[in-house]
Amino acid sequence: MDRAVVFLLLFSLVFFDKIHTAELDIISDSLFLTDGDTLVSASGIFELGFFQPDNTDNIYLAIWYKKIPVRTVVWVANRDRPLAGASPLMLKIVDPGVLTLFYNTSMIWSTNTTTISRNATATLRDTGNLVLVDQNEKIIWQSFDYPTDTLLPGMKLGRNLVTGMQWHLTSWKSSQDPAPGELTWGPDKLGYPESKLKLGKVVKFRCGPWSNQRFTDIPTFSGNLSFRYEVLITESEVSFAYILDDNSILTLTRLNSLGQLETWNWVEEDKKLHLLFSLPRDTCDAYNTCGAYASCSLTLIQQSCACLDEKRFVPRDEKSWKRGDWSGGCVRRTQLECEKGSDGFIRYSNIKLPDTEYTWFNMSMCLDECEAKCLKNCTCMAYANPQTSLEGRGCMLWFSDLLDIRAFSGGHVAQDIFVRMASSELGLESTFKKKGEANIKIIFPLTVLGVLLIGFFSTWLCGYMAPEYALDGLFSIKSDVFSFGVLVLEIVSGKKNWRNIRPEHHNVLIGHAWTLYNEGRSMELIDASLSESFNPPEVLRSIQLGLLCVQQNARDRPNMSSVVLMLSSEGALQQPKQPAFFMDTESPIADSPSGTHGSINGLTITEIDAR
Ligand SMILES: *[C@@H]1O[C@H](CO)[C@@H](O)[C@H](O)[C@H]1NC(C)=O
Ligand SMILES: *[C@@H]1O[C@H](CO)[C@@H](O)[C@H](O)[C@H]1NC(C)=O
Ligand SMILES: *[C@@H]1O[C@H](CO)[C@@H](O)[C@H](O)[C@H]1NC(C)=O
Ligand SMILES: *[C@@H]1O[C@H](CO)[C@@H](O)[C@H](O)[C@H]1NC(C)=O
Ligand SMILES: *[C@@H]1O[C@H](CO)[C@@H](O)[C@H](O)[C@H]1NC(C)=O
Ligand SMILES: *[C@@H]1O[C@H](CO)[C@@H](O)[C@H](O)[C@H]1NC(C)=O
Repeated sequence: MDRAVVFLLLFSLVFFDKIHTAELDIISDSLFLTDGDTLVSASGIFELGFFQPDNTDNIYLAIWYKKIPVRTVVWVANRDRPLAGASPLMLKIVDPGVLTLFYNTSMIWSTNTTTISRNATATLRDTGNLVLVDQNEKIIWQSFDYPTDTLLPGMKLGRNLVTGMQWHLTSWKSSQDPAPGELTWGPDKLGYPESKLKLGKVVKFRCGPWSNQRFTDIPTFSGNLSFRYEVLITESEVSFAYILDDNSILTLTRLNSLGQLETWNWVEEDKKLHLLFSLPRDTCDAYNTCGAYASCSLTLIQQSCACLDEKRFVPRDEKSWKRGDWSGGCVRRTQLECEKGSDGFIRYSNIKLPDTEYTWFNMSMCLDECEAKCLKNCTCMAYANPQTSLEGRGCMLWFSDLLDIRAFSGGHVAQDIFVRMASSELGLESTFKKKGEANIKIIFPLTVLGVLLIGFFSTWLCGYMAPEYALDGLFSIKSDVFSFGVLVLEIVSGKKNWRNIRPEHHNVLIGHAWTLYNEGRSMELIDASLSESFNPPEVLRSIQLGLLCVQQNARDRPNMSSVVLMLSSEGALQQPKQPAFFMDTESPIADSPSGTHGSINGLTITEIDAR
């Protein structure tokens, strides 16, 4: 008998006699899915079945979170071949091991199984992965290899360099149409891997090189969510995944049809999906806003661009730059002299590393080897360790202009890059002469304070989280003048564990500062480890300013703009009155409840001489 007729008979039988729908846990030779049936994962977290977007007649085979009452689709099979109308549907395994979606008698969609295997079965795992296994339980096809618009924990982005298989997200055409849209999220083919958001071929946003530790440009997650990144960079595979330690947490990262990459998690108490973050966030996130060798930062008011270094770089087109047209970027003031072999490198810190498309990398090289390798090749413009910290191995070389740099403020958060410079530029006056972490000192407290001030404000205004700082800690510091005065005193006294700031600590510190100030012993407030690196008048001024900000009567405290003015000028300051929370405690100075001391990293420039 003709195969089609058999199916037709089977369909009619199933279709017209069907009264109950079933929840299956496996699809096999003899068990198949028809309209209304679903395939459910072992713990009932995910469900596969037929899904119809609101206000449409289209039907899709899809996977959604069964535990979330609002239909939350995470994967769609027949994205661009919807079914419409009342014909019978069937999802069935066809020999040799191909899971196939039939609509009436026609084959609408099937798995791309390449291994021939009899007796295959399909199940939905609790991770949301639809897997097809052969009789030896070997996976012969899995939905995680064909991502749609959603990245679930454990799912990979990247590519398999052996099979050529690629994993990236593609947005839906619209919120009601799962057909592939023009937006994608995933790594480029070339260079050190990093995820890029593209509209067609145009880059819209990138989040910095992949790193196991954390991303320069992705906020850390708040509260109880514990995420881990799993980056694999080998000769056979380049991939990125995020792993959730607690798999009872329902979460997803989705590239929506408007071009935002959003991470949501389900909060059972509220019965709501909560948005954890959405990228890109602001104008500095927009790709290459400032052009080559320039960095973007957000000030209190707006985004602004600056050459990587105001001394060694100049705008390519000064006039346009002054008008606020930054697209031309910057160029080195002095041309490189590679042929003479005298170039060296200048280190720039606290930035989002530039676009990595035109980079070369070797993850087993250390930084010294990396520098030597870059120095040898005249087209190498910079080098860096792609991992967030300077510990550990890893070398990346740039063979193009440095694009899409973003400056970060307030702390030892972002990454360092070593940019090639002509030898005459290496000897410029600068605070630091030596190489390496150990020699980072404070340029001078006021700069640091200014940077922190701006950093905290942009954090607050734009929702940007410096990755090191947990949300809870950060939002416990309110951005008012009073808190700023806490802040100043803490920095000066060398206590900088933002996460552990407790009200008692503020009070104790302010009381300790006030007593010493009154007795003319302010210098004793300063952390011993900083004693070599400050300028006493500036520190005294900072302390006085800090105390002005914490005066008991709020009306006596200067407003933010006066603070900024006082930070940047040298005029005499008022005498502070007694602070709020003043407690006349016995013990002098400096033991915080957490007992932590630290030094401060501001925005730093370090020089390295050519060898
Ligand atoms: C199913 O397909 C057959 C053959 O193409 C057609 O004759 C029949 O009308 C279809 N049935 C439905 C319900 O669409
Ligand atoms: C099926 O898989 C092969 C090999 O992985 C790939 O080249 C091909 O494009 C895939 N086809 C579809 C429709 O996904
Ligand atoms: C498939 O399963 C049947 C019954 O379980 C078994 O008899 C048959 O040998 C299996 N086929 C293969 C190719 O192993
Ligand atoms: C974190 O977990 C604790 C204990 O399970 C709970 O009391 C608290 O509300 C949770 N916090 C958040 C932000 O979910
Ligand atoms: C990568 O670096 C290591 C250590 O220097 C070296 O042994 C290896 O040959 C390099 N690989 C490539 C492809 O350059
Ligand atoms: C410098 O690097 C580029 C890019 O990798 C390469 O094409 C070129 O051959 C290298 N030149 C030398 C002299 O090694």
